[in-house]
Amino acid sequence: MIRRADPQPGQLVVELGSGTGPMTRALVTAGPGLPRFAVEPVATLAAATRRAAPGVEVVEGSAEHLPAMLADRGLGPIDRIVSSLPFAAWPADLQDRVLAGITAALAPRGRMVTFTYAVSPLLPAGRRFRQRLTESFAHVTATPIVWANLPPAFVYVCEGVALPQP
Ligand SMILES: C[S@@+](CC[C@H](N)C(=O)[O-])C[C@H]1O[C@@H](n2cnc3c(N)ncnc32)[C@H](O)[C@@H]1O
Repeated sequence: MIRRADPQPGQLVVELGSGTGPMTRALVTAGPGLPRFAVEPVATLAAATRRAAPGVEVVEGSAEHLPAMLADRGLGPIDRIVSSLPFAAWPADLQDRVLAGITAALAPRGRMVTFTYAVSPLLPAGRRFRQRLTESFAHVTATPIVWANLPPAFVYVCEGVALPQP
């Protein structure tokens, strides 16, 4: 995930769905000041992220409010989003609200990486998510499945936020 995100020094990097903090810790190791903040709505998990990555700000809230989280901190658009959000388990309206928050917050040349389980393309919600990704970004690629992950998973790499149609 971190290699596909390819964060560069000085970039604004935000993590979504930090859970117990394994990605947060990997981002901290990847570079100083990474991530700028992590988002996790479940208080006990947010606390676990803080323990896993001391010094990283963890915002307790939903990723759909990403633009407001940036505005509250006086931050510009995000260069890299590292997402573990369970899009393929979500209903259509939640997928759309969170994707709208992400595309409003991401810089035009920004990149989002988001993992999903290998079964995701077999599920209606997983197929819908992929479709919505291709509508929201100019370039969407999928990595090979990582079979060593339990459960096996792959990563969508999304770039080029589609501008709203006039
Ligand atoms: C699959 S877990 C991944 C946790 C961790 N990043 C990892 O790799 O182990 C997904 C996480 O997304 C969080 N989540 C669910 N809905 C969310 C939302 N609307 N905004 C932000 N995070 C959310 C969950 O609470 C959970 O911690």
